[in-house]
Amino acid sequence: DDGDHVPALVIGSGYGGAVTALRLTRAGIATVVVEMGMAWNTAGPDGRIFCDMLNPDRRSYWLRTRTDQPVGYFLGIDANKPIGRYTGVLDAERFAGIRVYQGRGVGGGSLVNGGIAVLPRRDYFAEILPSVDVTAMYDTYFPRATAALGVNAIDTAWFETADCYRYARVSRDQARASGFATTFLGNVYDFDYMKQEQAGTVTRSALGSEVIYGNNHGKRSLDKTYLAAAAATGRLSITAQHMVTAVAPASLGGYAVTMNQLDTTGATIAVKTVRADRVFFAAGSVGTSKLLVAMRAQGRLPDLPGAVGQGWGNNGNVMVARAQHLWNTTGALQSGMPAMGIDNWADPAGPVFAEIAPFPAGAELWISLYLAITKNPNRAGFAYDSSTGTVGLTWQTAQNQPAVTAAKRVFDKINKAQLTVYRSDLFGGDKVWGDDFTYHPLGGCVLGQATDDYGRLPGYPGLYVMDGSLIPGSTGVNPFVTITALAERNIEKVIATDVG
Ligand code: FDA
Repeated sequence: DDGDHVPALVIGSGYGGAVTALRLTRAGIATVVVEMGMAWNTAGPDGRIFCDMLNPDRRSYWLRTRTDQPVGYFLGIDANKPIGRYTGVLDAERFAGIRVYQGRGVGGGSLVNGGIAVLPRRDYFAEILPSVDVTAMYDTYFPRATAALGVNAIDTAWFETADCYRYARVSRDQARASGFATTFLGNVYDFDYMKQEQAGTVTRSALGSEVIYGNNHGKRSLDKTYLAAAAATGRLSITAQHMVTAVAPASLGGYAVTMNQLDTTGATIAVKTVRADRVFFAAGSVGTSKLLVAMRAQGRLPDLPGAVGQGWGNNGNVMVARAQHLWNTTGALQSGMPAMGIDNWADPAGPVFAEIAPFPAGAELWISLYLAITKNPNRAGFAYDSSTGTVGLTWQTAQNQPAVTAAKRVFDKINKAQLTVYRSDLFGGDKVWGDDFTYHPLGGCVLGQATDDYGRLPGYPGLYVMDGSLIPGSTGVNPFVTITALAERNIEKVIATDVG
């Protein structure tokens, strides 16, 4: 409530925030998590919490009057539809050169993501975060993270026969026949539940075209794992639909945190300020970077280093689709949870790790879709615009060309070997490459540059960064396991040395 004093306040309830909340509460510290999105624990009039991808309603998008699908076209026609403006679960945040997709709600990105849980390659992790002890990460913090996240492996024999993974088998077989290695992907979606969906004995979620607007069943999102465990300590309080707008040193000590309480239209219905001894920024790469850059520019945290707001990247994301021959059906029933990837990371001329993505349209479309993660070296920064009071991102669409070039090394070869072609009707105009959006924003407050080696913000004792903004723009695989494990490492140190 307005005027409260709390020992620890966490901004954001995604991976970084959920890890922080669990470890602080288990250490005996009363912790408040402030989350701008909704709690997503109450069913709508249709009996469901979330809508599916085939029938998006106002629950789908954060404050938009029209959907903004990642794959926005079909046969060249705009496939988006009007929706009511509402504090929906998926934000397609638009900057000048890129749309950045992010989850909004208690659980952050875990509510909307594909659940893919992969560790980065050990040598690549050492390359991107050279100050971090790699042995401790792989022996202690990655195992701790995957256990707490509830990562499970697919039954590989079942995978070979399940209708819902026909699309993945077709892409895998063609990749292998074209000279590429493939690998199974761990996931936080309960594969036993998915088996029952395929068998028709439970309500479908992953097999019911549910993923980017939330899953009503099956997914171990953070509200069911880390945040539930934190709540079980009795020391957690979560304040949803509150957006933090300012953090500054408080005259009585600690920090004054100002927030807008939002209604479901996004309107501010109250402004509150609380004082916190410690503030943990876990608003995600974009949210944390925007907030800190604004605080520095407005003179509220003037001594933040110049590296705050720098080193942002899109994890080399680029999407592409291939058109299959009529005899290579990909299936009308497709699991929304990817289970297989093409691993061409060892190619020095253009490392690529491509998830075989579903196209859960509920009809046979002969489409093979991929989300490629590449080693795009380009980076961008956040900049405050004093005339509008907003923070922009300098990324330009052309900076994603290295991602396209690397992905072409894989998919040109597959197309040539399989006598197939790219789909050019899915991304607007006659674009083949979905190169102007990302699911994987990373960086902006890079560990060891904008912060010390454990996420402490220099010059401001008691301020910490705990989310994907610590990772310098790339992790070579889907990022949430890396974000979780790094947060586990950093919070352990902070609790041992700074707290109590
Ligand atoms: P995250 O974004 O999770 O959490 C930040 C939270 O802070 C959000 O809930 C936000 O609302 C809140 N917030 C922001 N600003 C605030 C403010 N000012 N005040 C209060 N709250 C604020 N990764 C992966 O590993 N495997 C996968 O399969 C996928 N798939 C995927 C699909 C889609 C559609 C998306 C959008 C993303 C993925 N990802 C993914 C990416 C993954 O979800 C992402 O990397 C993590 O959620 C990032 O974790 P963070 O803790 O950094 O922030």
